[in-house]
Amino acid sequence: MTKKKYITTPIYYVNDVPHAGHAYTTLAADILTRYWKEKLGKENVFFLTGTDEHGQKVQQAAEKKGFSPKEFADSVVPRFQKAWELLNIQYDYFIRTTNPQHEKVVQELLQKIYDSGYIYKGTYKGLYCVGCEKFLTDTELIDGKCPLHPNRKPVYQEEENYFLKLEELSKLVLEKIEKGEYKILPKKREHEVVSRLSRGVEDISISRAGVSWGVPIPWDKKQTAYVWIDALINYYSATRIIKGKKRFWPANLHFIGKDILWFHAVIWPALLIATEIELPKTIFAHGYFTINGQKMSKSLGNVISPKQLVDRYGVDGARYLLLSAFSFGSDGDISLEKFDKKYNADLANGLGNLVARVAKLCETSDLYFDSKGTKKLEAYKKGVSSKLDKYDFTGALEYIWRFDIEWGLRWLDQLINEDKPWQLKDKKLLELKLNLYVLKIREIAYNLKPFLPETAEKIEKQFKGPKIKSAKPLFPRIK
Ligand code: MSP
Repeated sequence: MTKKKYITTPIYYVNDVPHAGHAYTTLAADILTRYWKEKLGKENVFFLTGTDEHGQKVQQAAEKKGFSPKEFADSVVPRFQKAWELLNIQYDYFIRTTNPQHEKVVQELLQKIYDSGYIYKGTYKGLYCVGCEKFLTDTELIDGKCPLHPNRKPVYQEEENYFLKLEELSKLVLEKIEKGEYKILPKKREHEVVSRLSRGVEDISISRAGVSWGVPIPWDKKQTAYVWIDALINYYSATRIIKGKKRFWPANLHFIGKDILWFHAVIWPALLIATEIELPKTIFAHGYFTINGQKMSKSLGNVISPKQLVDRYGVDGARYLLLSAFSFGSDGDISLEKFDKKYNADLANGLGNLVARVAKLCETSDLYFDSKGTKKLEAYKKGVSSKLDKYDFTGALEYIWRFDIEWGLRWLDQLINEDKPWQLKDKKLLELKLNLYVLKIREIAYNLKPFLPETAEKIEKQFKGPKIKSAKPLFPRIK
């Protein structure tokens, strides 16, 4: 059994700057990466994120600003990297689709598919949504408009393109899903994919004659690769262009939003089948959030940026609030008002207050504590790891905050209320009690590590002993 994990996020379009939606997926991947690295060792986990830089959408956005597409991408990429740094997201590699080494792998795979007979030339006629970067079928249109981009009129396109025999390949895709050769999670997403596959699938155009900003088709340089084909290949190309990462393919987990499920669950496996490359093991599509019941959008002016969240709640506050807001596979609604409330309840009053309370008790007791305490904690609590193994972030966090397990945060709070250690006259009993609290705090901190890395570290340092002292509040209350 190989002991390795490879996890990816979607690569984000550079026509937009990072927002809370991008942060949501990337944070989830960071949390899982930290969890796996602690379990398997750093060298056995590979976390990839990056940017999707080709295609019409980016080309048009660049033109609007008066830049070349590459200059434009170069100016946006650092904004993503800074946002991830701000949120303490530690990816192992940041891939850009304009990296010539990636482009080479794209051409190599396309040539391979062409040679194996899965590509042919044909004419495409239809409506294209630049916002989605895809052709829309009649059933997808609502009043002639794209439901996801009602402000961008779909454009009629008719051109000679290269087509992928998706109709044929999709039968093999369906077979593999049914045999469980790769998983689509949550289960309801797999049902969606299977039901659409069973209705039959048409071949798709995989090149563009009118888009110059893309990877040239190796056998016909007048055309460029369709941006989605180029983009999907990043997951594989990364393992080829970075030294020593070859062994990480196939990917263990692609985290994506539900908006791009079809591309990942069907088109990506089809491309891999056509090139005889192993398929990823799992594709997990999480839900979408709205803000105060509305879609997050520039035109509505309700976009929340990572910086805004960090300024208001601190790094770990932002991490906690985004991932605890609603269950990872479902849709949910967020708002700053809800975040404020949850921050005060769970972090300022919950975790922060508990830590301050125990530290204060230790400080006034004048006792010495075992300084090797944290070394003994080598594994996550079962409840936490079993939830994380299922990508259930809210479940894992709720577990740490529970009141009915003998180390949960609320359990400890309650225990202290009942013990009333400040009334204890018996020094030996007090020492026993405080040592128990300290041990529990260390356990809580250990289990919080993947989620709140800075806070966990602060707590570990503070409670290392032999003298435990009060410190600044971890999460100052928001008024
Ligand atoms: N470039 C493509 C992906 C190519 S992957 C080979 C793309 N980029 S994107 O910039 O539009 O990012 C889409 C992703 O951002 C979603 O799949 C999801 O991960 C994240 N989200 C964007 N808005 C979101 C919400 N409102 N809620 C949750 N996640 C959101 O698609």
